[in-house]
Amino acid sequence: MSRYHEIESKYLLKFRNRHDFNSVISFLNDKIFITKDDMIFNENDERIISHILKRYNNNEPLPYILRRVFFYKSYFNIKKGVFIPRQDSEAMIEDIITNNKPEKVCEFFCGSGALGLSVLNNVQLKKLELIDICKKALKCAKSNIKEGNVLVLRGYFEKLIITKSKNFDLIILNPPYIDINDINVSQSVKEWEPHKAIFSKDNGLYYFNILFSKISECFSLNKKLKIYCEFGYRQKNDISKMVPHDIKVTYKKDYQKNWRYFILESKND
Ligand SMILES: C[S@@+](CC[C@H](N)C(=O)[O-])C[C@H]1O[C@@H](n2cnc3c(N)ncnc32)[C@H](O)[C@@H]1O
Repeated sequence: MSRYHEIESKYLLKFRNRHDFNSVISFLNDKIFITKDDMIFNENDERIISHILKRYNNNEPLPYILRRVFFYKSYFNIKKGVFIPRQDSEAMIEDIITNNKPEKVCEFFCGSGALGLSVLNNVQLKKLELIDICKKALKCAKSNIKEGNVLVLRGYFEKLIITKSKNFDLIILNPPYIDINDINVSQSVKEWEPHKAIFSKDNGLYYFNILFSKISECFSLNKKLKIYCEFGYRQKNDISKMVPHDIKVTYKKDYQKNWRYFILESKND
């Protein structure tokens, strides 16, 4: 039996799914990954797996334990206190990358910066600005910047959205949109992830209300602007009642076929 199969038979079933087990194995083999049969495990690795399992069994999300998360096509640094980027957001990022040629992009609610930086990694941008209110998130976002003209800024969406609309071609939003009483939120999320990043008032619709109260002014200042915004898969009906008549809205689904984001454009282009 190869060393990999030895490790697999000993530890695979201790993880909730194969994906988590694979994440740990690829974390251990990062620098020396060859094929499954040739993977090299040193003496320390079993001790590391046991340590990871202890935290994992305490419901701690694996990305916090490994201090990295795979999003779209790359790994990003992540730390406790910062929202973990979700696969739910990947369809929106792919759409931005394949169907637009923006030069200047701004991401509000940036968290780790994984969304905006994925755009930067795949489109030639002149400028990317990442904005959040959380100092930990901004530090994490800075640690994820490898190259390019990227500015990281502490600021409130509600105060800056109109000003930034003037100066950018495309704005990315993934606001907190979960209702605090939502029973579908997992125990791990409730216990470990920052509540300010997840939950918002008014049944989770607080930031959409703000967005739509300011949107006509944003487009009056920049008719070419496009805004991509993620929402909860059951919020489409509520959101569609908020969109002003002078704004074009297109709803899109994520890879799981759930309604997941909308695109806003001026009707008077
Ligand atoms: C759902 S997370 C999204 C993080 C990141 N965009 C992602 O998808 O991984 C929401 C983020 O918004 C930030 N935030 C909450 N209220 C904000 C506000 N009023 N203005 C700017 N950022 C805010 C939180 O700190 C958190 O990082």
